[in-house]
Amino acid sequence: MNADSRTRLDQMPEWSALARHREQAGEVRLRDLFAADPGRGGAYTLQVGDLHIDYSKHLVTDETLRLLRQLAAARDVFGLRDAMFRGEKINTTEDRAVLHTALRAPRDAVVEVDGENVVPKVHEVLDKMAGFADRVRSGQWTGHTGKRIKNVINVGIGGSDLGPAMAYEALRAFTDRDLTVRFVSNVDGADLHEATRDLDPAETLFVIASKTFTTIETITNATSARDWLLTGLKAGQEAVARHFVALSTNAGKVADFGIDTDNMFEFWDWVGGRYSYDSAIGLSLMIAIGPDRFREMLDGFRIVDDHFRTAPAESNVPLLMGLLGIWYDDFHDAQTHAVLPYSHYLSKFTAYLQQLDMESNGKSVDREGHRVDWQTGPVVWGTPGTNGQHAYYQLIHQGTKLIPADFIGFARPVDELEPGLAAQHDLLMANFFAQTQALAFGKTPEEVRAEGVPEELVPHKTFRGDRPTTTILARELTPSVLGQLVALYEHKVFVQGAVWNIDSFDQWGVELGKVLAKRVEPALTEGAEVPGLDGSTKALVAKYRELRGR
Ligand code: F6P
Repeated sequence: MNADSRTRLDQMPEWSALARHREQAGEVRLRDLFAADPGRGGAYTLQVGDLHIDYSKHLVTDETLRLLRQLAAARDVFGLRDAMFRGEKINTTEDRAVLHTALRAPRDAVVEVDGENVVPKVHEVLDKMAGFADRVRSGQWTGHTGKRIKNVINVGIGGSDLGPAMAYEALRAFTDRDLTVRFVSNVDGADLHEATRDLDPAETLFVIASKTFTTIETITNATSARDWLLTGLKAGQEAVARHFVALSTNAGKVADFGIDTDNMFEFWDWVGGRYSYDSAIGLSLMIAIGPDRFREMLDGFRIVDDHFRTAPAESNVPLLMGLLGIWYDDFHDAQTHAVLPYSHYLSKFTAYLQQLDMESNGKSVDREGHRVDWQTGPVVWGTPGTNGQHAYYQLIHQGTKLIPADFIGFARPVDELEPGLAAQHDLLMANFFAQTQALAFGKTPEEVRAEGVPEELVPHKTFRGDRPTTTILARELTPSVLGQLVALYEHKVFVQGAVWNIDSFDQWGVELGKVLAKRVEPALTEGAEVPGLDGSTKALVAKYRELRGR
């Protein structure tokens, strides 16, 4: 860690320079910026892999970007990046390396953790996954009664669910449509019930995904799934081996559960849960799309890894996106960040990013344990367009809050759409372009009046504009493009954590709730006296027991 990163961020001259710049620039109007530089639309664009990035509709000038890059340089963001890629233990509170990038490294790469090259074992697991996925897809892998597997149920939560579930939705057009693939995460029994109620246990494979194999929701659901299977098959424990596989770092716990460790697909403590869906955690996805498509997705991740590692600051897209976020978070008081994909297939993309971003950068002490006096990670939210347009876009357009947004769209619909449905794509994308235009440039009172609007309605129909957006456009949503998008956001989050000087790779904030849930449960089930329970929770528990009929 270089000395600068130990300087309080808000005491750095580069930080003060940005604050001064923000103050001096006053109100920046996008109409003015475009009038002053008609070429801005073409100039403020970057390309990474298949992704065309337009950042012209941001409240920034060349000077803003220069100052932001200066801040990144002073925080040695690229130094920390190199340390991450080298396998150094940059997750200091857990004393772990952060090496999701090794999951997509080519076979001949060398990435060492504690003196051991981890790349061979990454590929060993990928090959084992591919062999298994092929056997399931071809019908060679059968259930206990000899029937072909037709249903795959992934049981996991957080990073062991959101990534594969999101990617399965995103790549549906590339999946084997004869397979039913479902994702169960919620400890609410309704989730497993709905996922299994119409399935034949003899044709069902459970993929138990848990890095630690101790997560209470997952182990509870996995146990219930095993009961469902054995009851349905009228079989004993010996049936488990053909119907349960595990994705985990914890072989001991997997064996304790009764899963043959030959049917365990391993990963390692240097893969964070929210960075894990391109590891063994992606097995359900690989079964759905096949190993070749999965490898294409990994290639996509790698394109952006290489770009992030080597592109100069001026054209480094994750760096730019991270810095733009900091500009709004810390210098414009923005509290949230919307991610708005104009693709039905990306319906789970923002939910996935919520964990990636908010579990990583939802921190309020710096790496040295001091409370930060600056804003860290934003609230990330959003759903696919155009649905949001008819729900919450009103607030983005005319509300009192500044909400920077990423718009993600594709030039072509997926190949399998019927011609009539494919034709709807232009309408979808017309909305995509219209929204960022309206958000940026709004509508002046003069323009409203010119339409003959009565004076009393003019303020209501005026749009201020200056709502900043990034447009991310690609030709089509392929496995590679999905990998590129995910890696882009992974590295954006990294950049922000590096500037804010926080550990983006731990998640201590989720522990307290887990511990308290364990303590409270006996109060619900047995009415047990829980020492130290506060008055509010005590009264609520009593009400719960009354309503539950206990
Ligand atoms: O509670 C948060 C968390 O630890 C996440 O970071 C993780 O993705 C999730 O729980 C699931 O953990 P596991 O894969 O160990 O079951």
